[in-house]
Amino acid sequence: MKKVIVTGGAGFIGSHTVVELINAGYEPIIVDNFSNSDERIVKQLEQLTETSIDVYNVDCKNIQQLSKALILEGPIHGIIHFAAYKAVGESVEFPTKYYDNNVGSLINILKLMPENDVHNIVFSSSCTVYGEPETTIVDENTPRVEAISPYGNTKRICEDMIMDAAKARKKMKAAILRYFNPIGAHPSSMIGELPHGVPNNLVPYITQTAAGKREQLSIFGNDYPTEDGTCIRDYIHVVDLAKAHVDALKWMSSTDENQCEVFNIGTGKGSSVQNLVDTFERVNGIKINKKVVARRPGDITAIYANADKAKEVLGWSAKLTMEDALRDAWNWQQYLANNW
Ligand code: UFG
Repeated sequence: MKKVIVTGGAGFIGSHTVVELINAGYEPIIVDNFSNSDERIVKQLEQLTETSIDVYNVDCKNIQQLSKALILEGPIHGIIHFAAYKAVGESVEFPTKYYDNNVGSLINILKLMPENDVHNIVFSSSCTVYGEPETTIVDENTPRVEAISPYGNTKRICEDMIMDAAKARKKMKAAILRYFNPIGAHPSSMIGELPHGVPNNLVPYITQTAAGKREQLSIFGNDYPTEDGTCIRDYIHVVDLAKAHVDALKWMSSTDENQCEVFNIGTGKGSSVQNLVDTFERVNGIKINKKVVARRPGDITAIYANADKAKEVLGWSAKLTMEDALRDAWNWQQYLANNW
């Protein structure tokens, strides 16, 4: 069985990817320092997949420990690198924390890959690299812009580091996945998002409001130049997103050539914040206490993916709907209330 190191494998996207790797016949190995994830997720994963999973409680910034894990587990087919800080606002306040962790971890991984005869890497990037684009629909050739936040800048720098490494290393294959807005949870309700403290993102804020953990959802601005005045994003079910990582690994196995490609991973459809909230209420039969407030600084008006390249090259496309994701997100929130 091909072994795949999944850094950040206990996190939101990482844990869903672990499930899809197992479903596809890979052996995922989790490397996570649990700084922003919960060890109980590993138990949930093992129960859900009926598989025992090797886990290393290791910080990717610690090259000695990371190296040990790679040596112990070798030979390794590939690395999927999720482990990173991801709060945009926090990155503005503590920029060095973000550069140190997000860039530092990838430097260690890129150093250790050739030493351990590992040549395949899938990297978690973000549509944040496009900034406020001139067109709302972006493809991979849409120019990247200067990042608005240190978080966004770490994604841009990490993309560049991988591209440079791939140019220098003949055996290397890399897939840089630019995620749009991941939402939802596993349909089993056994894994999902576990935000620390007050959620920054829309869907966990909605589910916590619906559950009575938050008093009111703030809709950040309804005076944007969109149909209903609220921002537009491309919300993708986390299970679909997880599958894109598996398809990226399969694509790497299908060629002997040195490769480094960037892929947009989104549905290709934009939804407004208002539409998402209305859909949540409709599919779950719940009313959310909500209020329109001022715009949130740094939010862009609208962005969604042209994901044609992922379809053509990886054979991947999103299959699940926003309705599915919002139902699964609410079921997970209820599971948490009863079991966590
Ligand atoms: N929103 C609200 N109320 C909330 C939270 C969010 O109205 O309580 C709105 C935002 O203003 C935005 C939309 O919901 O219009 C989506 O906001 P999220 O915070 O869920 O997601 P973002 O699009 O801001 O951010 C996401 C990822 C980032 C990534 C970024 C790239 O979370 O990691 O996309 O654009 F950098």
